[in-house]
Amino acid sequence: MTYEVVIPAAGRGKRMGADRNKLLLELKGIPVIVHTLQVFERDPLCSAVILVIHPDDKKTLEELIDQYHLTKITQMVTGGAERQHSVYEGLKKAAAKIVMVHDGARPFISQEVIHKLAEAAASKGGAIAAVPVKDTIKKVKNGTVTETVERSDLWSVQTPQAFLLEVLMGAHEEAVRTDFLGTDEASLVEKTGGKVAVIESDYDNIKLTTKEDLVFAEAILAKNGQ
Ligand code: CTP
Ligand code: MG
Repeated sequence: MTYEVVIPAAGRGKRMGADRNKLLLELKGIPVIVHTLQVFERDPLCSAVILVIHPDDKKTLEELIDQYHLTKITQMVTGGAERQHSVYEGLKKAAAKIVMVHDGARPFISQEVIHKLAEAAASKGGAIAAVPVKDTIKKVKNGTVTETVERSDLWSVQTPQAFLLEVLMGAHEEAVRTDFLGTDEASLVEKTGGKVAVIESDYDNIKLTTKEDLVFAEAILAKNGQ
């Protein structure tokens, strides 16, 4: 099942505290966003990449696309103030039956998980990558534990998140109408009553958010022999 992917890359990376968009920082000499784009470049089931960018990064990204011979980026669109707005701008350019949204900041997604997501989206309408939570999670109020949450029910959610285009577009349009800002694509679909399947992913599929994540990322690359 082929798919198109929307890659939001228009953030400013504030928590990383670098002097530029964290996606332009290098891991083993290659910018984070290029690592991410290369995964989809190599995937035969990916028919197109819609890259959502900040205008300040446009020139740099165009140069990188050229330098690394990235051929699948059919559209570069300007993002919005929040990630959800950026994704919506990208979605407006999507045309395939199955569309995936994947954070530019997650360079270690595997092709195996991507393919499972595409299949599940086609048969069930929507599917997200996630891993079981490893830590015990407690609810805390004013510095005191109020509840220990049953861990077996808890999953840490990642991207990609894959949907039938009509399902995700409908959910986004409803979010605009109701002024709802969710934390991921699935939360918008859930809000409209849609079902979302969970595909077990890898702990490697981290999102580069703060400085220490760069150290973890180098370790993941070394582990994978890169
Ligand atoms: N993103 C986007 N548009 C925004 C905000 C985020 O396209 N307005 C993208 C980021 O570029 C990133 C992904 O969404 O690839 C996940 O967001 P996050 O990890 O929060 O990145 P930033 O928003 O850049 O970082 P921060 O929140 O620390 O500023
Ligand atoms: Mg952010």
